[in-house]
Amino acid sequence: MPQNKVTNNDLLKYMDTSDEWIQERTGIKERRFAHRTKETTTTMGVEASKIAIERAGIIPQEIDFIIFATLSPDYYFPGCGVLLQRAMKMKEIGALDVRNQCSGFVYALSIGDQFIKTGMYKNILVVGSEKHSFGLDLTTRGRNISVIFGDGAGAVVLQPTDAGPGDAPGKGILSTHLHSDGESAEILAMFNPGTHANHWTSEAVADFNKTEVADMFMSHAMIDKAQNFPNMDGPAVFKKAVVKFPEVIIEALTANGLKPSDIDMLIPHQANLRIAQFVQQKLRLRDDQVFNNIDKYGNTTAASIPIALCEAWEQGKIKEGDLVCLAAFGSGFTWGSVLLRW
Ligand SMILES: CC(C)(COP(=O)(O)OP(=O)(O)OC[C@H]1O[C@@H](n2cnc3c(N)ncnc32)[C@H](O)[C@@H]1OP(=O)(O)O)[C@@H](O)C(=O)NCCC(=O)NCCS
Repeated sequence: MPQNKVTNNDLLKYMDTSDEWIQERTGIKERRFAHRTKETTTTMGVEASKIAIERAGIIPQEIDFIIFATLSPDYYFPGCGVLLQRAMKMKEIGALDVRNQCSGFVYALSIGDQFIKTGMYKNILVVGSEKHSFGLDLTTRGRNISVIFGDGAGAVVLQPTDAGPGDAPGKGILSTHLHSDGESAEILAMFNPGTHANHWTSEAVADFNKTEVADMFMSHAMIDKAQNFPNMDGPAVFKKAVVKFPEVIIEALTANGLKPSDIDMLIPHQANLRIAQFVQQKLRLRDDQVFNNIDKYGNTTAASIPIALCEAWEQGKIKEGDLVCLAAFGSGFTWGSVLLRW
């Protein structure tokens, strides 16, 4: 996590909001903002990867595939995966970027799981990292979305379950479940820069007929109208999330002949504490079966699950043999779950 803590009260210097409003609606007390120039999405991913690789007992040169999930890449292209490969002096291995927003890490893990299960790779680095602070409208105009997001990174190393002594069948990732519904793609989205030219929405997103050819991707007019920031219909996202989160968790449990009471630890994507509480209630889970840390970090999108997984493990809340469920929902909409035996 970046060192720089930004409390709800710190946001008052940019916008009209309050600590009370933010805490009551989202459960967030503070978030981290990356150092403007010294930390990028990739460098935070590198720091998280160093810890994951060390804990896996290997060296960066033993990694044979990189999957990097983010919606806030260092460059529009190429992706963060190759920047990480360069920064960590890895071999000339494959590097894949996943752009599935809040469910990016679950999608990335599912991809990695398939490569492990086919035997194609032995050490896969899966990273989720975000530097949201560079792309938020931190004025009152953007307050419904900008108070939610924070920066940070997390990473895991995936290996076959028979990779070392003590590893046994029935451990590791049991199954993954991925979904999408593009019907509401514009409800939580950042349109620009992009090639859409208003094709998908009747809403006036820039005036592409008047724009000079060279300006179409990103124009001064877009910036003047604040169309270079993400937008969100918060209540609509909330309504869909509280249906899809429990649904995809039950799907994972059912696929493995299990039920909610079998879960030792549910790590939901940290979208909003109220969403996590709703899911907990719906599945009738005890407090000790659900891990939340959104109060400290806000919503870190693709990074939230690996950060929470790491903290839960460091706090001794995930033990050998535990049934762990990861679940995410976000922009797209896309959602998914991972059920694993630790
Ligand atoms: C964003 C969210 C917290 C907003 O809460 P809400 O109760 O739905 O609030 P609304 O958007 O309906 O706005 C309620 C009022 O608060 C105001 N408001 C919005 N943001 C505010 C802020 N940061 N500070 C103070 N007031 C704010 C609005 O202007 C509105 O005022 P009005 O009633 O006078 O028009 C909530 O909808 C949410 O969490 N949705 C899910 C979002 C999410 O998880 N996104 C990540 C994707 S995984």
